[in-house]
Amino acid sequence: MKKDHTGMRRNLTNYGDEDFSLYLRKAFIKAMGYSEDALNRPVIGITNTFSGYNPCHANVPEIVSAISRGVLLAGGLPIEFPTISLHESFAYPTSMFLRNLMAMDTEEMLRAQPMDAVVLVGGCDKTVPAQLMAAASVNLPAICVVTGPMLSGSHRGVRVGACTDCRRFWAGYRAGEVDAEEIEEVTSNLVPSGGTCGVMGTASTIACMTEAMGMMLPGGATIPAVLADRLRHAEAAGSRAVAMAGEQLTPDRILTAQSLANALRMLLAIGGSTNGIVHLAALAGRLGIEIDYQAFDKMGRETPVLIDLKPSGAFYMDDLYRAGGLAPIFRELRDMLHLDCLTVTGRTLGEEIDRLPPPFSQEVVRPIANPIHEGGSIAVLGGNLAGEGAIIKQSASSAHLLVHTGKAVVFDSLEDLCARIDDPDLPVGPDDVLVMRNAGPRGAPGMPEAGYIPIPRKLARQGVKDMVRISDARMSGTAFGTIVLHACPEAAVGGPLALVRNGDLITLDVPNRLLTLEVDEQELARRRAQRSPVEPEGDRRGYLRLYLDHVTQAGTGCDFDFLAAPRITGKTP
Ligand code: FES
Repeated sequence: MKKDHTGMRRNLTNYGDEDFSLYLRKAFIKAMGYSEDALNRPVIGITNTFSGYNPCHANVPEIVSAISRGVLLAGGLPIEFPTISLHESFAYPTSMFLRNLMAMDTEEMLRAQPMDAVVLVGGCDKTVPAQLMAAASVNLPAICVVTGPMLSGSHRGVRVGACTDCRRFWAGYRAGEVDAEEIEEVTSNLVPSGGTCGVMGTASTIACMTEAMGMMLPGGATIPAVLADRLRHAEAAGSRAVAMAGEQLTPDRILTAQSLANALRMLLAIGGSTNGIVHLAALAGRLGIEIDYQAFDKMGRETPVLIDLKPSGAFYMDDLYRAGGLAPIFRELRDMLHLDCLTVTGRTLGEEIDRLPPPFSQEVVRPIANPIHEGGSIAVLGGNLAGEGAIIKQSASSAHLLVHTGKAVVFDSLEDLCARIDDPDLPVGPDDVLVMRNAGPRGAPGMPEAGYIPIPRKLARQGVKDMVRISDARMSGTAFGTIVLHACPEAAVGGPLALVRNGDLITLDVPNRLLTLEVDEQELARRRAQRSPVEPEGDRRGYLRLYLDHVTQAGTGCDFDFLAAPRITGKTP
């Protein structure tokens, strides 16, 4: 007779005797007061990513409790367990450096412990991508619950929100428009509650993409962290996880090239974070799917930005929630989506769109006929300085800089940038192009969100608000400016940024998707021959060593090469 390997019988510890393994497991877990009845239920794991270092996850205990209630109501046994928790401001050198560690931690805990399904509780930027990557690799029924966006705050009568306004105030401070007293005062107002950043930053972007790809119950992406609705959503997710375990609704049935294309469509329509493309590339790699960047650029040209939300627009995430969340966006995008993709509800995306509540008048989501920004938020650039590809968030750029030629002012590293950017003697003018290199996945290491190169203080004080900036780094989804990112391959492994010299002319031409170093090929070949490889500093042991030996470039999501699927079997979008 075939042995039952569900519930507590899953993933038995190896002692060479399965019955003994189960007997011992039961003996131990009974120490926590469980009855036989409880232990015979479907087991639903819940990732507890609470951390005293992660204010974006401040509400995780309440969410876990609501999920547990939902699991119990549906007849399952909830068991929470800890995994790594990552917050943007509490991760040295960067949270991106640690995303793959969290993905590995989550993956191995899903493999090691007995559970029939899992509810993944994430929120802050890197956490949900790490959890999705893990779920895709383990292929256990999984459903995502995010902590939800924070509320918007108020500073001296003006509405503010992390982190677009964090950057605005800091730029004002550097320009001498905000004094030391006010910059200190504003730290008490920018983040008025727990939850993820209250604008369309990376966390909100990933939450919306996760709902669009079908891994979250409808409506879950935008509910603010502190609302009762967030807990009702969590309870529903717990109940649904029990049903998913019974249905064997595994991620491979939900995560397909088509559902990832739906997520990319959502990324473009919401004017989402450029980080969304990096994380989606990593998730796709786990599934053996590669991103077709030319097709993504084409998708961008035909997908207008529909929401009037910071950093591309005016409103905050709590406004989007009150405007109906993603419902009006799904309605507008309906004809552009793959409607037959399965979701965690067991229904298709098309069926879910048919079930949406009736529309009502609101100002945050625009109709396709009257978008915030025509022609897509993210453009993919080619040309001799873009190498295998670079991206720019044109919806957050200055229109007058989208076609621009300027002299390069080059910084060789983050340290070099810190040391010289505010030097009064730095030879730089407002029409120059700031270039920072060796800030990619290996170079920094950890591909920091440093692409938002500050305007040199002496220019900021003259009123310069934006300049063309180019790097192999990333940028926070909450930032704005004419900023080219993810130049790939990065300078540290010989990418074209390594060849730029101070004073070279660089032309950015976004309408024609070109980033050009105006130096002839013969000279570039000479510079290439002279170049010596850049090795990151530090003690190469432990996780850093694993990271440096295996991290891939931005185009494949900076995952570790050994974690991606062994073969590419499809493309998206
Ligand atoms: Fe956590 Fe912005 S810092 S979402």
